[in-house]
Amino acid sequence: MSCCVASVLTEDFIAVIQSARLPKEGETIHGHNFFIGFGGKGANQCVQAARLGAKTAMVAKVGNDSFGDSYIQNFKDNGIRACGCLHAGENAIVIVAGANMMLNKEELQDALAAITSAKVLVCQLEISPQMSLRALRMAQENKVTTIFNPAPAIPDLDPDFYRLSDVFCCNESEAELLTGSSVNNVEEARCASRELLRRGCGAVIITLGAQGCVVLEAPESTSKHVPTTPVSAVDTTGAGDSFIGALAYYVAHYPAMRLEEVARRAGQVAAVSVQSMGAQSSYPHKRDLGAELF
Ligand SMILES: Nc1ncnc2c1ncn2[C@@H]1O[C@H](COP(=O)(O)OP(=O)(O)O)[C@@H](O)[C@H]1O
Ligand SMILES: *[C@@H]1O[C@H](CO)[C@@H](O)[C@H](O)[C@H]1NC(C)=O
Ligand SMILES: *[C@@H]1O[C@H](CO)[C@@H](O)[C@H](O)[C@H]1NC(C)=O
Repeated sequence: MSCCVASVLTEDFIAVIQSARLPKEGETIHGHNFFIGFGGKGANQCVQAARLGAKTAMVAKVGNDSFGDSYIQNFKDNGIRACGCLHAGENAIVIVAGANMMLNKEELQDALAAITSAKVLVCQLEISPQMSLRALRMAQENKVTTIFNPAPAIPDLDPDFYRLSDVFCCNESEAELLTGSSVNNVEEARCASRELLRRGCGAVIITLGAQGCVVLEAPESTSKHVPTTPVSAVDTTGAGDSFIGALAYYVAHYPAMRLEEVARRAGQVAAVSVQSMGAQSSYPHKRDLGAELF
């Protein structure tokens, strides 16, 4: 298996580029959301979005081994469309064997059509910052809503990341690293959100664990604290990814919804995820959630 062709023809899906490497001869991917990331975060976020009812497709690069096979099986089990190499057509997914984690610009160029036809692009820092920036630029130039999650955090984030983020969403430690000020409570998060917004994002969300999150949208200067339901947390692993996946789902499916309400609902979804063990294993399905969230 070398490199592959993806073609996903439905209108309503979320594609995750789990790998850095995209097919050289890729066909167009059309969809609602387009995630770029590598490693667990992009996958977690995609699984959560899928469980809320988004039709999703996964573009992945996995090893040609049993680990790779079970990794793909997991996506299929989650209703994420997964098809192997050269299975062009509806429900296809790209699986590129090999271990090159560096997405190069030619490869990213092949994903241009996919990104530009999406409703939302979600990027993390699991591929090289230069390629993330490039993907965000492609999205912005084509009026695709961008959600950027600066994780895993790096201290000297390129300033263009702020200008390219319609929604810049991070947790307390990431906000602290980026602003250089402590972020341990709602007041400090409000302060950090102003600083991050000042750097050029369209909106900032800082998640605060059991405290919910703080949302600040340009051109407002007053942030909103959005509390979450008090629950007894069993394991908070992956809560942030559940939040981002849900955020992407709501932004794509309810484009007119206020960001504060989007964040409130994403917080409710993530609050469910902390009540059982694991990351993906704790992510709720739409059927587990109240009708008021949809
Ligand atoms: N103990 C908790 N009780 C209720 N909700 C929680 C709890 N921990 C996390 N959440 C929800 O998950 C979201 C993300 O959690 P957070 O811990 O900030 O992310 P991360 O996993 O990136 O550290 C929060 O905004 C909140 O909605
Ligand atoms: C993948 O693994 C199978 C069986 O182990 C082998 O036949 C095949 O050549 C491998 N493909 C690549 C691209 O390494
Ligand atoms: C924020 O997320 C990172 C993973 O990106 C995690 O290592 C860190 O512990 C999180 N911080 C908090 C305060 O939960």
